Amino acid sequence: MSPSAFVFDAYGTLFDVHAAVRRHAGGIGPDGQLLSEIWRAKQLEYSWVHSLMGEYRDFWQLTEQALDFAFLKVPSADPSLRKSLLEAYWALDCYPEVPSVLKELKAGGARLAILSNGSPEMLESAVSSAALDIYLDEIFSVEDVQRFKTDQSVYEMVTNSWRLYPNSVSFQSSNRWDIAGATHFGFRTVWINRTGQPDEYADYAPAVVLPTLAGLE
Ligand code: LAC
Repeated sequence: MSPSAFVFDAYGTLFDVHAAVRRHAGGIGPDGQLLSEIWRAKQLEYSWVHSLMGEYRDFWQLTEQALDFAFLKVPSADPSLRKSLLEAYWALDCYPEVPSVLKELKAGGARLAILSNGSPEMLESAVSSAALDIYLDEIFSVEDVQRFKTDQSVYEMVTNSWRLYPNSVSFQSSNRWDIAGATHFGFRTVWINRTGQPDEYADYAPAVVLPTLAGLE
């Protein structure tokens, strides 16, 4: 039987985090991809470090700090693009299959939500700019628990709020470390391996692996 609740990670799963740099690729120069990768890696590292310290910070603040570090690491990139890159984060492209997949799940009667490290403001902006709001029943932001993924209290927001057992929730993420955390919590997990990454976290294997969200059921 198909699950009746589908919960999605936001960045990298529904929204393309590299779209911001790609939109300004012409102005950034040859190291745009490197800049984007460092930006994303540092944003995540800061979330884990702050969570371990028990010192929550707004994900937006971490996103800004991560970009500042990325500019220092990639001197060929023009730091005057800082403002434009940050603005683009509020209106990231969603992956092409996302609207039709959400529409179909919704039409089948499933409950749909986002569960993300993003602040409510960031998430609401990305969702409305990609016109996904009509499909989503809820946007769960870590702001409510003041911890980042993979703290188990993050995943618990869904089961507490929707009064469901973890194994009746299908959780989708393109971040393998997020899948590890969600599997450990007890969700049925689907790893969206968009970039053909090798598997890791063998102790916390996903139930399903897909190259995109198409075919999710
Ligand atoms: C999120 C990050 C981890 O949306 O992609 O939670």
